[in-house]
Amino acid sequence: MKIAVYPGSFDPITNGHLDILKRSLKVFDEVILLLAVNPRKKSVFTVEERLHIMREATKDLPGVKVDFTDGLTVNYCRKAGAKAMIRGLRAVTDFEYEFQLSAANQFADDEVETVFFMSRNKTSFISSSTINELHEGGVDISDLVPPAVVEAYKAK
Ligand code: COA
Repeated sequence: MKIAVYPGSFDPITNGHLDILKRSLKVFDEVILLLAVNPRKKSVFTVEERLHIMREATKDLPGVKVDFTDGLTVNYCRKAGAKAMIRGLRAVTDFEYEFQLSAANQFADDEVETVFFMSRNKTSFISSSTINELHEGGVDISDLVPPAVVEAYKAK
């Protein structure tokens, strides 16, 4: 069984993330959508809110599990028996950051390989913070995110 972990802040998850997730399910038997902590970021949604949204958005996708870690993602991968970590690449500006992150992860555990998927969904140029900003400014973002995100904004 080929297991992969797709980590991120998912604050909130977008249709771009879901596109990467669906494509990764064609390659892996199980993909764990892992809410991990980026200590450099202040989040809009709480961990519980983000996990709820992630579960709702993936409930019809067989082979997906949702989980949380406050530790290193490579440690999580080892415990879960995953040999691959998935990341999406949107623009060339993502490259430098992803290059450093994958090198740090490889230093921590060289048994876990990072596998990159090129974003090709038409909405994937958008990031979670852009979504939050557009919503804050009164723009309808429902074409860019799963319905659970729209519900979560309403509930806030
Ligand atoms: N579609 C839309 N947006 C996308 C996207 C896609 N396909 N792929 C990435 N993004 C956006 C995200 O929305 C996010 O936007 P934001 O910055 O506006 O919030 C941005 O690109 C990158 O975020 P994300 O992919 O969630 O990564 P991150 O940099 O926030 O977090 C972790 C990366 C959580 C995986 C990393 O911090 C981590 O592994 N933390 C745990 C500790 C650890 O193991 N550290 C590694 C060793 S130093």
